[in-house]
Amino acid sequence: MLSPHSRKNPFHAVLSVNRALTGDGSGKETRHMELSLGGSGLGYEPGDALGVFPSNDPELVGMLLAELGFSGDEPVTTREGGATTVRGALTTGCLITVPSKHLLMAVAEKDSTGAFLRAFQANSALEDLEKFLNGRDVLDVLREFPNARFSADEFVKLLRKLQPRLYSISSSQKAVGESVHLTVAVVRFGIAHNSRQRDGVCSTFLARRAGSGIPVFIHSAKHFRMPDDPAAPVIMVGPGTGVAPFRAFLQERRASGHTGPAWLIFGEQHAATDFLYRDELEAALCDGTLTRLTTAFSRDQPHKIYVQHRMLEEGAELFAWLQQGAYFYVCGDAARMARDVDAALRALVGTHGGLAPDRAGEYVEAMKKSKRYRKDVY
Ligand SMILES: Cc1cc2nc3c(=O)[nH]c(=O)nc-3n(C[C@H](O)[C@H](O)[C@H](O)COP(=O)(O)OP(=O)(O)OC[C@H]3O[C@@H](n4cnc5c(N)ncnc54)[C@H](O)[C@@H]3O)c2cc1C
Ligand SMILES: NC(=O)c1ccc[n+]([C@@H]2O[C@H](COP(=O)([O-])OP(=O)(O)OC[C@H]3O[C@@H](n4cnc5c(N)ncnc54)[C@H](OP(=O)(O)O)[C@@H]3O)[C@@H](O)[C@H]2O)c1
Repeated sequence: MLSPHSRKNPFHAVLSVNRALTGDGSGKETRHMELSLGGSGLGYEPGDALGVFPSNDPELVGMLLAELGFSGDEPVTTREGGATTVRGALTTGCLITVPSKHLLMAVAEKDSTGAFLRAFQANSALEDLEKFLNGRDVLDVLREFPNARFSADEFVKLLRKLQPRLYSISSSQKAVGESVHLTVAVVRFGIAHNSRQRDGVCSTFLARRAGSGIPVFIHSAKHFRMPDDPAAPVIMVGPGTGVAPFRAFLQERRASGHTGPAWLIFGEQHAATDFLYRDELEAALCDGTLTRLTTAFSRDQPHKIYVQHRMLEEGAELFAWLQQGAYFYVCGDAARMARDVDAALRALVGTHGGLAPDRAGEYVEAMKKSKRYRKDVY
């Protein structure tokens, strides 16, 4: 059946499982979640992501309303022309954690105190403005510039739209039917100059506040599919939540009886508390769904060990897999990990292929061209 649901018409899913994957004493909180897609007609492939429209933390919304002097019931019109209350708009319509440029301009006009206005108005001081904004949310700006007063309707129009977040789907529909599994790292952090705890909007929404009626859609990732040939070897590099799509790959392989060699390289901080899906991965090794499992626990020894260090240590074997036509997949952190993994791949191809750096680079580029090097990084 063709589903009527899409990003424009999200399905309202029910969260049925929400459990910690990280153990007591971990420095992180990563959770396994299961949402029911029952009756939606939605389908997904391994590699796809789930889009989630979050709601803001009602406590933060309450603090904003108090600061603005609103009851919450003031009627407002959204930018799209819909009618709601200011509480409704601040809860589901507006990004209230990051001040928008429009808000800053309006504040600068209404309250011209201090260095803020000068920094904001002088293009040359863009860096100062970025420094000013680092860690400051909308509530901070309102508290620092109390002379800036707004009507409810004016205020909501100054904020950016709250966007959905994507999460790699960590299940195969062949294994779980009308359900979708996610692996979510809860984003929480403190700011040095401010005592208020900061929460990522969507990861804390899913972890703490979601129940039924979660607006979701399927985000197709055609660039991140399993190989067409079920016998092709796959190497999957997935530290942290990067393991999510590979759990889906493994479920799909088991459900389809795929027998090609599969190697997972997983990394996290500590083996004792952060070995996500340890039991499942060890079971997959036992039943042959996974051929090889390599781990890199970065904080179990005085010096950091990351997935790319393991790739280099096992470079001869990894290069042999590549020579046998293996597909190389990377998922997880884009800013640091994916870049370092790419460098390690080039280095090991050079060492074990006996190639100069430019030829090793060409080897990796050729893998990309033939779609044997696939990334899903964020
Ligand atoms: C294709 C794709 C797949 C993804 N898959 C997954 C997945 O499987 N699992 C998963 O957990 N996430 C995944 N993500 C990331 C996810 O979409 C969200 O970006 C993430 O959950 C954070 O969203 P949030 O709303 O909780 O945080 P936001 O409200 O968006 O806040 C995050 C922001 O907070 C700030 N921040 C975070 N930490 C700090 C700090 N220590 N100090 C100062 N500022 C900080 C940064 O500016 C950061 O950008 C994926 C992203 C993409 C694009
Ligand atoms: N922008 C940032 O500064 C920042 C920081 C953390 C997370 N994040 C984001 O938070 C989300 C969730 O992260 P996550 O929980 O999935 O895991 P993660 O933060 O990516 O951590 C998973 C593992 O990767 C290690 N790691 C750190 N730097 C690495 C590198 N350059 N190369 C290889 N491995 C590296 C970590 O080690 P150590 O922790 O011991 O270094 C940890 O063992 C992701 O979206 C990620 O991009 C961003």
